[in-house]
Amino acid sequence: MEKDFNDKVVLVAGAGSGIGREAALLFAARGARVYAADLNPQGLEETQGLARAAGAQLSTATVNVAQEGEIAALLARIEREAGRLDAAFNNAGITGGTHRIEDYPADDFDRVIGVNLRSVFLGMKYQIPLLLRQGGTIVNTASVAAVTGPGGMSAYAASKHGVQGLTRVAAMENAARGIRVNAIAPGWTETPMVVANSAQNPAFAALAKQAIPAKRGAHPREIAEAAVWLSSPASSYVHGQLLVVDGGMTI
Ligand code: NAI
Repeated sequence: MEKDFNDKVVLVAGAGSGIGREAALLFAARGARVYAADLNPQGLEETQGLARAAGAQLSTATVNVAQEGEIAALLARIEREAGRLDAAFNNAGITGGTHRIEDYPADDFDRVIGVNLRSVFLGMKYQIPLLLRQGGTIVNTASVAAVTGPGGMSAYAASKHGVQGLTRVAAMENAARGIRVNAIAPGWTETPMVVANSAQNPAFAALAKQAIPAKRGAHPREIAEAAVWLSSPASSYVHGQLLVVDGGMTI
C-alpha cells in the first residue's frame, strides 16, 4: 500500500468500532501516526491489536467526544507528543431511540445532539488551531439522514443535518487558511450500529435488497476509503462537500 500519509498525524474519533476502526487501520497502513479515540476502551484495544497484526502503530485515547474538557485534553496530548496534527476524522456517533417527535424524550434528543453534533463542533474548535500551523484536513461523518427525514429519527436526522451545516461553515472559514473541511454521508453500513453480524443477518439482507439499488449494505471499509480520500491530497480542490456513499440509496 502506498505510504502517502508518512509523517502525518491523524486523529480518528469513534475508532473503537465500525467505520472509525476501518479508517484508523487504513490511515495507519498508509503510514500515518494515528490517534484512535473512543469512549470504549475494549473497542480501542481491538483496533490497536488489528493494527499491530498488520504491522502498523496506533495510539489510543479513551475519550467522551461530547465533553469539552476531554477533547481539549486530547488535542493538548497530541500537541505534546506528536507536535502537530494533519488530519482529523470526527466520526463518533449514536443513533438514539426511534420515536415519533411527540413521543421523543427530550433528554434523549439532547444526548444524541451532544454525541453527534456538539462533538463535531468541539472537535473542530480544538483541531483547527493545530491544523492552521501547516494546513490539513477535517472530515466529519454525517449520514444519508443529513439529506433525508427518516421517520422516528428526529434527533439523529437533526444532528446529521447539523453536521453538514457545521462542515460548510468550517470549510468557508478555513478554505483560505490551508484547511479543507468535508463530510461523508454513509448509507447503511454493516457495523454494530446498524445490526450485529449484519452480513449473516437475513432480515438486514432482505431490507437492503429492497431499499438499496446496489442490493447490499456497505462494508465499513468502503466508507473509510471515502474519508481517507477526502483527507488526502487527491481531493485537494474539494471544500465543504457532503460525499454520499450509499449504494445509490438516495438517488
Ligand atoms: P459503531 O457503533 O460501530 O461505531 C461508533 C463508535 O463511536 C463506537 O466505537 C462508540 O463507542 C463510539 N462512540 C459513541 N459515543 C461516543 C462518545 N460520546 N465519545 C467517543 N466515542 C463514542 O457505528 P458506525 O456505524 O461505525 O458509525 C460511525 C459513524 O457513522 C457515526 O457517526 C454514525 O452516525 C455514522 N453512520 C453510520 C451508518 C451505518 O449504517 N452504520 C450510516 C450513516 C452514518
